[in-house]
Amino acid sequence: MPSIVETAASADIDPPAFPPSDEFAASANASAELYDEAERDRLAFWDKQARRLAWETPFGEVLDWSEAPFAKWFVGGKLNVAYNCVDRHVEAGNGDRVAIHWEGEPVGDQRTITYAELKDEVSQAANALTDLGLVAGDRVAIYMPMVPEAIVAMLACARLGVMHSVVFAGFSASALRARVEDAEAKLVITTDGQYRRGKAASLKEAVDEAVKDQECVEHVLVVRRTGIDTAMTEGRDVWWDEVVPKASTDHTPEAFDAEHPLFLLYTSGTTGKPKGIMHTTGGYLTQSSYTHFNVFDVKPETDVYWCTADIGWVTGHTYIVYGPLSNGVTQVVYEGTPTSPTEHRHFEVIEKYGVTIYYTAPTLIRTFMKLGRQIAAEHDLSSLRLLGSVGEPINPEAWRWYRTVFGADKTPIVDTWWQTETGSIMISPLPGVTDAKPGSAMTPLPGISAVIVDDDGKQLEPGTDHGEQANGYLVLDKPWPSMLRGIWGDPERFKETYWSRFAEQGWYFAGDGARYGADGEIWVLGRIDDVMNISGHRISTAEVESALVGHSGVAEAAVVGASDEQTGQAICAFVILKASAKADDANMVEELRAEVAKEISPIAKPREIHVVPELPKTRSGKIMRRLLRDVAEGRELGDTSTLVDPSVFEAIRASK
Ligand code: WT7
Repeated sequence: MPSIVETAASADIDPPAFPPSDEFAASANASAELYDEAERDRLAFWDKQARRLAWETPFGEVLDWSEAPFAKWFVGGKLNVAYNCVDRHVEAGNGDRVAIHWEGEPVGDQRTITYAELKDEVSQAANALTDLGLVAGDRVAIYMPMVPEAIVAMLACARLGVMHSVVFAGFSASALRARVEDAEAKLVITTDGQYRRGKAASLKEAVDEAVKDQECVEHVLVVRRTGIDTAMTEGRDVWWDEVVPKASTDHTPEAFDAEHPLFLLYTSGTTGKPKGIMHTTGGYLTQSSYTHFNVFDVKPETDVYWCTADIGWVTGHTYIVYGPLSNGVTQVVYEGTPTSPTEHRHFEVIEKYGVTIYYTAPTLIRTFMKLGRQIAAEHDLSSLRLLGSVGEPINPEAWRWYRTVFGADKTPIVDTWWQTETGSIMISPLPGVTDAKPGSAMTPLPGISAVIVDDDGKQLEPGTDHGEQANGYLVLDKPWPSMLRGIWGDPERFKETYWSRFAEQGWYFAGDGARYGADGEIWVLGRIDDVMNISGHRISTAEVESALVGHSGVAEAAVVGASDEQTGQAICAFVILKASAKADDANMVEELRAEVAKEISPIAKPREIHVVPELPKTRSGKIMRRLLRDVAEGRELGDTSTLVDPSVFEAIRASK
């Protein structure tokens, strides 16, 4: 791991802050009192937040941290997540409220689903899953594009206490296979095909490849989406439309323990093997619901909320499915790519549904910036009253552009820092309370504690100028309700990955570097481990390296993330070819990019691949990625004194 002072830090240190307008503050869900309340008694605060949900059996102790880092929140309480996200709103008389305005990628493809309809469909799906033999504790892999059935499938699993493991439909068959295998999924839910930029492509074929010879998989449930030719395996494969609509709409949800596992979500770590991050029921839903309500200031009666994430990532889990639905809001779900069929699409969707809250990623904002403000100017965006950002540090220039062009120079922006592991938002402004500085996620939310510390765990002093030493490690020094409860099947890796860096203090180390600004606000600087952030997608250097060396022509590979104007970071690979493969370098590079797409996903394709004769290594054989980053970013080389052979760089440079 590189030392903390090496992380790239080019934040503009003390830009003017944007305070909330009086008008926004006056009707905001959260006031400054929320911070005071949490400060006075943190656990009493979470107790109160948990009571926003419907519990079948009340909980006793708020937190049992006696077996740290394995937390138990809301001990002994029982609840059903799907009941809280769906039935509860129907029982409260809001069955006619639209839950989902679904917009398909082909223009004109749309569906409106009320809470009452959602309840029926989730109940039918739950009955169908039961008929397929699923029982509480089983695992189901969901490999689907953004169709309503994907959300229904997640909720049906939650309703049955079955864990879902959603795998991004942009991932390859081999990535799906590894995840199905690790979780020992009994069922895979998928679609026949998916639309990508107007074209239908098979998805089921990838499932067939992924589940071949996997004994754990008993069935594959297939939603008809594109009508593309699809082979079905007798006895194993079942069409959704042949079982779900026929099932009964009556289904009594069973309440599960607060610590009953809710889902697995695989994410990249610093090794080649993805980790199954495990979340549970009561704590996850409490914090997801609380943060969604206060950070996005949702008014369920009037707002139209739109989070542009995919359910394949944690943002889709927490801020499309569990947060918004637990709060009974109306939301837009869009199936396709943002610029299909034209770059007007997102703006048209905002206009069409009167979107009031829009939550997206910096990389998309930068795409819109590049396309130019005249596109936005052709649309009426006046319904927007709050904007959000997530996935990577947002550069101040993009922040300002977002506020000006989307927000008519007046909407608050919430820059939300969190991770797959944290389950929900941890650091963010409260839009009616906190001043926002462009580029900073500001301060921990009420009830959350985060600090920046140095190598020895000493807290940096907020509000003082530390000069070169200003960068520290971002740690979470107190447990939080939606924290991960472990890595599937690997408790040791869980402790080692998150809790060993500051084991003495018992802190969670997030993997990010950060610094304090002049007013004590937090500036997240990005990952300091071997995890890259490409357009907000998390990919480890080791995963890409292992895909590259999996190719028969590659002897060795080293991968680094280099800064990229568009995608935040881009993947840069350095490979040594085997003697047998050297003849045809030019095609080789294309072949290797294709190999990575096939092994992982097109999003993991390296931006550049350099064929080099040698890699820079220390005497102990460790590849010095820090120096490769210098090369990739065209910087002066850092300290090369520990290299075996400093002259390797002449050859590496020549390859660029
Ligand atoms: C990593 C987590 C959070 C859901 C999507 C990504 C980076 C995320 C921010 C932000 C600066 C951010 C961090 C974090 N990150 N949000 N607002 N400002 N950095 O989830 O794939 O688990 O990645 O994304 O580096 O550690 P993830």
